[in-house]
Amino acid sequence: MSVASLERVSVTPDDLTITPRDRRFGREERTPRWWLNNSPYETALYNALSATFPKGEAYFIESIRAFREAADDKLLGEIKAFTTQEVIHSREHSAFNKRAVEAGYDLSSLERTVDESLALLKGRPAILDLAATMALEHFTAIIAHELLANPRHLANADPATADLWRWHAVEEIEHKGVAYDTWLAATKDWSRWKRWKLKSLLMVLVTRNFVQHRTQGVLELLRQDGITGLRAWVGALWVMWGRPGIFRKVGKAWFQYFLPRFHPWNEDDRALIRGWDATYDYRQEPPRKRVRSAA
Ligand SMILES: [Fe+2]
Ligand SMILES: [Fe+2]
Repeated sequence: MSVASLERVSVTPDDLTITPRDRRFGREERTPRWWLNNSPYETALYNALSATFPKGEAYFIESIRAFREAADDKLLGEIKAFTTQEVIHSREHSAFNKRAVEAGYDLSSLERTVDESLALLKGRPAILDLAATMALEHFTAIIAHELLANPRHLANADPATADLWRWHAVEEIEHKGVAYDTWLAATKDWSRWKRWKLKSLLMVLVTRNFVQHRTQGVLELLRQDGITGLRAWVGALWVMWGRPGIFRKVGKAWFQYFLPRFHPWNEDDRALIRGWDATYDYRQEPPRKRVRSAA
């Protein structure tokens, strides 16, 4: 495939700027144990997601950076900004996870599950890591979109923690095309069928793992709250798939990944980013030491 036809498949907006917003959240406070809607179920879902982020995001960075040689200058700049954003996300979610531990949760078995999933890909071709990262970045982007578009998800949350999740969602939307464009560059000589086959296969495997492991994680955290058996299952499934039902709500966007002309930027949802940037007063933040980009 020529460079010209590669450009045709990437629809990342020319005027997109990926801006790392080096922010810190909730450092001076104790996060309530049930920080979301005073609900162990809703809290467990987000805590289970956050437990996976520090290791997961480090894996995304490595997977994408392994294909830097395939990128042009524009994409290289985006990979650099992506890396900086993900490094800061990891830092903030590590701090958040520490507060969850201080609130009484033990996240070690959830973190072990991430290690086991990553071990499955060890020693395999790097393109599989990139395809898995691309699938998970699609997941995070569509969940981020839903989180910002529908205030119900973070209603009655601890304010600093809600800010953490919204900030993270903004940046996930902003860099949602980076893994995909890196994939397009890395597989530019592949046939469309070969590309579709591998990216779809990895999406199916990643989805199965994601749903299974996050459900286990939620059940484990509920167990630590003394909620077990049928009550735990019904409550966990209801939060994920019923109401607010964030996984159900992203179903259509998830499926679009398999369509022939899919690209994360087929939907330009930067209005959600502008909405947050306009309402959040960055000037309230004291100046911080800049995070060095690893790129
Ligand atoms: Fe992130
Ligand atoms: Fe990301």
